[in-house]
Amino acid sequence: MVGLSMRYSRTRAGDMFLSSTAVVMAEVVKLITCLILVYVEEGNFEKFYKTLHMTIVKQPIDTLKVCVPSLLYIIQNNLLYVSASNLDAATYQVTYQLKILTTAFFAVTILRRSLHTTQWGALVLLVIGVVLVQLAQTVKTQLPSGIEQNHWLGFSAALSACFLSGFAGIYFEKILKGSDISVWMRNVQLSVLSIPFGLSTCFLQDSSIIRKQGFFFGYDLFICYLVVLQAGGGLIVAMVVKYADNILKGFATSLAIIISCIASVYLFDFHLSFQFTLGALLVICSIFLYSHQPKTASLDKHTSAEK
Ligand code: C5P
Repeated sequence: MVGLSMRYSRTRAGDMFLSSTAVVMAEVVKLITCLILVYVEEGNFEKFYKTLHMTIVKQPIDTLKVCVPSLLYIIQNNLLYVSASNLDAATYQVTYQLKILTTAFFAVTILRRSLHTTQWGALVLLVIGVVLVQLAQTVKTQLPSGIEQNHWLGFSAALSACFLSGFAGIYFEKILKGSDISVWMRNVQLSVLSIPFGLSTCFLQDSSIIRKQGFFFGYDLFICYLVVLQAGGGLIVAMVVKYADNILKGFATSLAIIISCIASVYLFDFHLSFQFTLGALLVICSIFLYSHQPKTASLDKHTSAEK
């Protein structure tokens, strides 16, 4: 959904907004939401202020640890806009699904999680399934005149985003599960650091345009919706990583793609092709294959991952 909306926002006619500012605005929306959630968790203003002070100001090293994913997510989100501007929707979405494999790679190397051969097989099956599903719904967009695309730039941006997504996701999972700081508080730390990083990107990339046309040039209701959608997506990612893990997130998003396509059959008369059905079956098989493992082995895996 975010991917398609991003692509639409970069290809529609009319004044073009600056994507670097949209990335910062999504961080601002997340920060405000998480501050409200931390306040609700704490119950009153005094406790709220104390927790913020204790976590952010009094533990500078811990806050600095969060610098890594916050910088990486800002770069990743900017790269996703580059990719959505330069690749058609299907190629962009398909390429970005390779993050499932980069995530598994970093889960094994950083979290020392061990995967069975069947689980690796399931991941590969998942990627093939998602690729088939995405390609089955290719919609060619007619670009308004004046919008140029550079396929290789878009492709390299999407590939780099896959690596950043995998690494940042696993790194964030490690710090989230390695302490008892709440997920909302972690996200406050993340956004507090991301906002200055994001603003630097804006001014390094687009300072002359911002000075001439303003920070919010080209914003309308759709861009506000896109910003809120991206912020909401980020918060859901944080919750999934907290209560499950990054690899399961890959399976969940793939299933969500299929469910939304099946819903489109009823809502928008979407036609289910053979390719789509095959892709969907592969995704469903991969989910069973991935979770099929002896109970004791699964326990071992989780205890070693928590260490
Ligand atoms: O595609 P992927 O799952 O890597 O997307 C991660 C997205 O979630 C990024 O846009 C990132 O900004 C956001 N995120 C977040 N808070 C977290 C983790 C990720 O907002 N704790």
